[in-house]
Amino acid sequence: MKTVVGKAMSILAGQLGHPRGPLGKLVALVLNRGNRTVVAASVTAAEVTAGESAADIGFGGGVGLPLLLERAGADGVVYGVEISHDMLDGARRRFTSEIGSGRLRLLEGSMDKLPFDADSLDAVITVNTLYFVPDLDRACAELARVLRPKGRLVVGIGDPDAMAKMPFTEYGFRLRAVADVIAALQGAGFSVEDRPVSGGTVPFHALVARPTR
Ligand SMILES: C[S@@+](CC[C@H](N)C(=O)[O-])C[C@H]1O[C@@H](n2cnc3c(N)ncnc32)[C@H](O)[C@@H]1O
Repeated sequence: MKTVVGKAMSILAGQLGHPRGPLGKLVALVLNRGNRTVVAASVTAAEVTAGESAADIGFGGGVGLPLLLERAGADGVVYGVEISHDMLDGARRRFTSEIGSGRLRLLEGSMDKLPFDADSLDAVITVNTLYFVPDLDRACAELARVLRPKGRLVVGIGDPDAMAKMPFTEYGFRLRAVADVIAALQGAGFSVEDRPVSGGTVPFHALVARPTR
């Protein structure tokens, strides 16, 4: 039988994987504050330049969206993709003018079936999301499919040893070895550089991946 703490951790883990409802709003605020450093490092690593198209897959509270918008500039387009209706609704309320101008497009979708044509994006970031993706190879293949040949993908993950010490990760997080994530990205046709990022809540890896085709 689950203890009260176990039940609370299980609810938290569920919210982190799919924020929703009143608690989801709070989780979004906590994500934005706690993950700002690692999301910003991932945006920097994606090297988005003015006029490019970039996506944040699983943007959660949306902390990465203004950072991508700033880099993509007036002629670029930023896409935010989420499985959570409530995170999409929150971002729709927060970014009305960017959406109105067409610079930001918010789409419901999942990493294993991305709502993009092949070769359509210059840059993709996905941060703290792979823990919730059951089929890693399929997700990597999707990410490879949507990126242009000169595109950049940044997959951000907390170091699995440090993540395993957090009290909620035992409730459904998939904590994969960094080497396994790199191997899956390589299998999907990427070359991968592992950049350590400090200053977040746990040691962090920004896996910077470029298509080899
Ligand atoms: C822990 S939050 C991270 C949010 C943000 N990237 C950050 O680092 O602050 C994980 C987010 O990924 C989303 N997510 C989970 N599975 C997903 C999937 N298969 N495709 C796209 N987004 C997903 C969740 O809804 C949630 O908002």
